[in-house]
Amino acid sequence: MASISIRNLVKRYGNFTVIPDLNLEIADHEFVVFVGPSGCGKSTLLRIIAGLEPISAGELYIGDNRVNGVPAAQRDIAMVFQDYALYPHMRVYENMSFALELRGTPKAEIDARVKRAAALLHIEPYLDRKPKELSGGQRQRVAMGRAIVRNPKAFLFDEPLSNLDAKLRGQVRAEIKALSQQLKTTMVFVTHDQIEAMTMADRIVVMQSGTVQQYDAPETVYERPSNQFVAGFIGSPAMNFFPVELRGEQIVFSQAGTEAPLDAKSRDLLRKAGHGVLGIRPEHFSVTADAAGAAAVTVNLVEPLGSDTLIHFDLAGASAIARVDPSLRPKVGDRLNLRPQPGRTHLFDSTSGQVLR
Ligand SMILES: Nc1ncnc2c1ncn2[C@@H]1O[C@H](COP(=O)(O)OP(=O)(O)O)[C@@H](O)[C@H]1O
Ligand SMILES: [Mg+2]
Repeated sequence: MASISIRNLVKRYGNFTVIPDLNLEIADHEFVVFVGPSGCGKSTLLRIIAGLEPISAGELYIGDNRVNGVPAAQRDIAMVFQDYALYPHMRVYENMSFALELRGTPKAEIDARVKRAAALLHIEPYLDRKPKELSGGQRQRVAMGRAIVRNPKAFLFDEPLSNLDAKLRGQVRAEIKALSQQLKTTMVFVTHDQIEAMTMADRIVVMQSGTVQQYDAPETVYERPSNQFVAGFIGSPAMNFFPVELRGEQIVFSQAGTEAPLDAKSRDLLRKAGHGVLGIRPEHFSVTADAAGAAAVTVNLVEPLGSDTLIHFDLAGASAIARVDPSLRPKVGDRLNLRPQPGRTHLFDSTSGQVLR
């Protein structure tokens, strides 16, 4: 149980700066997810918190303790990796009890802790098995159990679900979330999967090139992305982007010169720069009979998902996707009027990508 505070952190490998200057406050008991494209520095940051990687400059606090230079073993933090790293020759029970035995924890206490963790993770029936006699999901739970028995101040997870198939991933995702609520321990979870981030986190850190692009609750990151990178990374299918500009009092799509169906507020936002990037999520188009305030598009491709249907279309030189009600049954070649839902569009600065509000 501890907060984690990262202040002006710099990490270099030789001449290569992975993290230029990072500040982050993780509250006690908080579940924080680091999300971002491969290579953006998520694992590096996690390994720095764990003490597996030295820092080039800045400060790191766990609780009230400044831990720069404190070895991993003395940080009281547990890390769960993607590849589990279980001991193949030991039974599940010993895999979980091993670290406590090394520490000289009394046998009865070890037994109580292993059984409690096994109950939490629903792996009691497997305590006598070897890792090779378990499924991927069960092994993942043993790896977590091994972390839980140590009662660490914080859990760090580095893409622990990547090796699981899609169904199991969804299940273990829900289990880890429930576990975090039961254990009331600080958890930091790294993933490149924005769905994992959205569903698990109290707060999401969206990272790019070793910098924090946004640090907010999932719904805030989705509804009020701070820049075009975050807007494009969070949400699936991704937000659609169209360059737009103000011509006189009219907002037009830059590529096509045709009117963009936007409100007076967007016009005010565009007034200063004269141009920007319009962002519309697939789920924020309405199909209307009326052409007014809508963009007329031709359906290029239809993907029925059951719960809803994705329509691919070209608009103003960009390919785009709308998510519509499946009862509409659109067909390739159909013409549709798509109206952006009022108040659900986003405008970004063309150069910096920062949101215009
Ligand atoms: N030991 C290392 N030596 C040199 N470069 C490294 C080392 N570890 C990671 N990097 C580089 O740092 C960057 C961030 O890596 P990493 O933290 O693993 O990204 P992520 O986990 O977000 O995919 C990458 O460009 C990677 O190549
Ligand atoms: Mg990584």
